[in-house]
Amino acid sequence: MMGHRLNGKRVLVIGGAKYLGKSVAQAAADEGAVVVLGARDEKLAWSVVAELGGDHAQDHSAIHLDVADEPSILAAAQSLGEVDHVVITASAHHNVPVADLEHDGILNAVEAKIIGPMLVAKHFAPRMPSTGSFLLFSGTAAWNPSAGLTVMGVTNGAVAFIASQLAHELAPVRVNAISPGITDSGTWDDLDEEGRTGMYDSAAAGSLAGRVGTTDDIADAAVWLLAAEYVSGETIHVDGGSRHA
Ligand SMILES: NC(=O)c1ccc[n+]([C@@H]2O[C@H](COP(=O)([O-])OP(=O)(O)OC[C@H]3O[C@@H](n4cnc5c(N)ncnc54)[C@H](OP(=O)(O)O)[C@@H]3O)[C@@H](O)[C@H]2O)c1
Repeated sequence: MMGHRLNGKRVLVIGGAKYLGKSVAQAAADEGAVVVLGARDEKLAWSVVAELGGDHAQDHSAIHLDVADEPSILAAAQSLGEVDHVVITASAHHNVPVADLEHDGILNAVEAKIIGPMLVAKHFAPRMPSTGSFLLFSGTAAWNPSAGLTVMGVTNGAVAFIASQLAHELAPVRVNAISPGITDSGTWDDLDEEGRTGMYDSAAAGSLAGRVGTTDDIADAAVWLLAAEYVSGETIHVDGGSRHA
């Protein structure tokens, strides 16, 4: 659906070449934004740029950006200059039982979800207008502890605190987070059919909505939050009510 909630705003979506990031980028473009896709795979990102429509279809672009690599964050910030909104969907999974935790796996997850977003804020906030905002991605694992998901739960939980802390320090620039429930974004397609179906069934049964999330559920919330000028420091749960089931 086309709208104007982000008319002319410049929106950088880090992780925008795939999955939820791609859906958020599409939704932002449909709302009149000029979108920049930040991704480790810049070639893939440029192929997605070609699919984005909206009022500024000719103006969308892509840039190399790895949130685990500060020089790449700085280079992207210097190259882009002023950006109105920055969305960060990056994550690195290390979903194993505690007995199988590995230092590097934990570190990758922490870099993608905790260190990376703080460094993105460091380099982009000084170039942002006072009406700008950051949108981070937390996740349901933080509020629904589950064996094998300790790293995901802890890193997603930290994102909620990052949103609060950064919102305080960077005001009036706003900082918010979305905590999705299990969402059929494409990221779970690597699981075998049985594992994926089992996970979706269990997530649907453990929610009030009785289903898993769709990319539209999350993209709608993201666009609303980017435009919600009176909301800052919040983590919005778009999880079918799973914390209350
Ligand atoms: N889908 C769900 O069920 C669900 C549920 C709860 C929370 N979430 C959260 O929602 C966010 C988006 O999830 P998703 O479903 O789209 O799947 P995802 O697999 O978590 O997507 C991660 C995205 O970030 C990119 N990325 C990973 N490491 C990066 C880095 N160092 N620098 C820049 N980009 C990086 C990935 O692209 P490349 O690897 O190609 O670089 C990919 O585009 C994540 O933060 C996730 O934890 C998702």
